[in-house]
Amino acid sequence: MFSTKSKKHMEEPKSEIRISYITGLNDVVSEEIRVSGLTIRGTSDDSFYVDFAGSLSPFKQLRSASRAYLVVRDTRYHPTYINNHKSILGALVDVVISEDAKGFKSFKLTCAGSDSPEARGIARYIAETYKLSEEEDADLKIHIIKQETVWEVGVQITPRPLSVRAYKVRNMEGAMDPTIAYATNSFCNLENAKTYLNIFSGSGTLLIEAGQCYKNLEKLVGFDNNKKHLSLAVQNIKEAGLTRSVQLFEDDIFGNPDLGKFDAITSDLPFGMSISKGENLNTLYKCFIEYCEETLISRGRLVVYTNEHKMFKEIISKSKFKIVKTLRLEFMTNGNQYLHPKILVCTF
Ligand SMILES: C[S@@+](CC[C@H](N)C(=O)[O-])C[C@H]1O[C@@H](n2cnc3c(N)ncnc32)[C@H](O)[C@@H]1O
Repeated sequence: MFSTKSKKHMEEPKSEIRISYITGLNDVVSEEIRVSGLTIRGTSDDSFYVDFAGSLSPFKQLRSASRAYLVVRDTRYHPTYINNHKSILGALVDVVISEDAKGFKSFKLTCAGSDSPEARGIARYIAETYKLSEEEDADLKIHIIKQETVWEVGVQITPRPLSVRAYKVRNMEGAMDPTIAYATNSFCNLENAKTYLNIFSGSGTLLIEAGQCYKNLEKLVGFDNNKKHLSLAVQNIKEAGLTRSVQLFEDDIFGNPDLGKFDAITSDLPFGMSISKGENLNTLYKCFIEYCEETLISRGRLVVYTNEHKMFKEIISKSKFKIVKTLRLEFMTNGNQYLHPKILVCTF
């Protein structure tokens, strides 16, 4: 017979979902989790923990999250313990693989001492039990990490990050992270809007996120002055099933295109590499703001995303717009460089 105390000690922790996101998007992510009917139980660096109730589907729908993992946390779960109790990890892998049997062909184990006999024992178990090959760029991502005093054992629930969208058949250098595009749109009051304009539309990320999330929008328009970018957008928009709802134009902001008035305007403003050689950013931003003053309806929302926020703020202070909300983001580029761009919500 177990005493109550030892029985309690034998209890395994409940599975949870860890939802990770880009630094600065926490309010947007927590709101999306709340609207999805899920409850946040805890937080850690750029992650929320939510109860796992048996299905991964609700978590795969989240648009503001970068990644989601099925995890268990316990002070005992260091690699040696997991090597001796492999079924703890096996239970997580079973759930993830059972919901997408064909999606996983390879695995990667991330843990301290990944060459240790314990880690190798765990890797052999995964390879043999699930017939997966161990690879660097793998579909099934497993981690055993220590967070303060607690060990976390986890498996990413999808082969690719949640932020990698199925509609992105064509990628553009400098394209926006779709979770940031979702967040940008979420500040436009689009639930109550009918018309939406995306200036500097590039490969179409903002337009597609808006078209897929706000079916009430009757007019979705984008423009860009680069033919190649427009053709990438056409292909992504087609893949997203939005060809009939989105209108794209080849136009230059300096040409003051006449596209009508809009309830909301968004823009991922050109900066750094994404601006043509010789183009003056200050002149471009001034022209952009003047255009928005003419094109946005009164009390409409202008939401921009830029790394050049100082310059943008200076120009906006001389316009009829006021900034009503700012989100400071932080992430690392593919070139291992930290960026601190902002989402700025403006109205007049
Ligand atoms: C940062 S990118 C937008 C990326 C887009 N959000 C995406 O996810 O693909 C900026 C875009 O502005 C466009 N652009 C730059 N100068 C422009 C101008 N004067 N008029 C119109 N478009 C311009 C570029 O061609 C580029 O596609």
